[in-house]
Amino acid sequence: MLTNLTQQPADKILALMQMFREDPREQKIDLGVGVYRNAEGITPVMRAVKSAERQLVETQTTKAYTGLAGDPVFAKAMTNLILGASAPSDRIAAVATPGGTGAIRQGLELMRYADKAATIWLSAPTWPNHPSIVKYLGIPMREYRYFDNASRGVDFEGMLADLSNAAKGDLVLLHGCCHNPTGANLTPAQWEKVADILDQTGAIPFVDIAYQGFGDGLEEDAFGPRLLASRMPEMILAASCSKNFGVYRERTGLLMAIAPNAQVKGEAQATLNFLNRQNYSFPPDHGARVVQTILDDPALRSDWETELEDVRTGMLALREQLAGELRQRTNSDQFDFIAQHRGMFSRLGISAAQVDQLREDHGIYMIGDSRMNIAGLNSETVPILAEAIVAVGV
Ligand code: LMR
Repeated sequence: MLTNLTQQPADKILALMQMFREDPREQKIDLGVGVYRNAEGITPVMRAVKSAERQLVETQTTKAYTGLAGDPVFAKAMTNLILGASAPSDRIAAVATPGGTGAIRQGLELMRYADKAATIWLSAPTWPNHPSIVKYLGIPMREYRYFDNASRGVDFEGMLADLSNAAKGDLVLLHGCCHNPTGANLTPAQWEKVADILDQTGAIPFVDIAYQGFGDGLEEDAFGPRLLASRMPEMILAASCSKNFGVYRERTGLLMAIAPNAQVKGEAQATLNFLNRQNYSFPPDHGARVVQTILDDPALRSDWETELEDVRTGMLALREQLAGELRQRTNSDQFDFIAQHRGMFSRLGISAAQVDQLREDHGIYMIGDSRMNIAGLNSETVPILAEAIVAVGV
């Protein structure tokens, strides 16, 4: 049996992580995988996470199973964080999942289970694991235009034109904020128009939100998901706590399904519980409990929000610095988009050959499509990167 197996295509992001580790050069900069790092290059455990973990060690009396959906208090706290009051709780089914990827997987499983014929529309480009899971599950897939390589902004006309071809019951995968890999995001007015198109076509939004708080702020980053939740009869929402709580390896995520009414919510909840049972039974609890402890404790929550805000503004300062360095070196505003992009990533829009050259000649690692992780920089490495970008001939 095992001899039938063939090599799977390598995940670009994970392959680059490995290459970086194996590079013996001392002067090397990792702008690859989407993991936050502070100025010292460390991915810290957030203060509130440490406090919540201490509390749990002291007070937790059992590690017995929770429910198949995880603890409902986690789902409630996360639903409030992301959706606020935009949709009534009696329409929202939710299950805890192993990370945001687990939520995406369960959302896609739900979609396939409910409607085998439905197509999912992905932005071009999108996080490479989206099409990978979609293909693995055999779900029909189409792309809609999203990134305009000339302006490094959103090709909004192209996006609307493509989405107008979605059929009733198709799903449209939208990044809730901080688009990965481009860093180019929809404005509130554009979100309204996307909602209009979904209304007209009868397509269903499938929102992936993994970077809430990394863009313009916790509330601001939830604008799109909240708008859709308030207007659409149905919606799927996959959320990750990996980045904004820094609990990457705890695998903490939530899948929400907003139903048209409370009765359908009941069916959706039962199906999500069933799907969890088929795939892994009970979802992991530790990260979820830490997150819920923070969100429900005013002091911890305020400390978490302060630290998250420092992370966000730190990345914004790096964006400004890099755009400034490049403005000065190229005597042009061609890289000003870096300061306009939001979240952890920006797609530089340089060629694959230039990306290779940055890695080979300068020890600077970014994904082949020229996505760079802003949080891989600090104020000292920004000028080194700017110099190298100019040196590869942009
Ligand atoms: C990324 O896009 O780099 C992150 O979401 C990490 C991952 O799993 O790919």
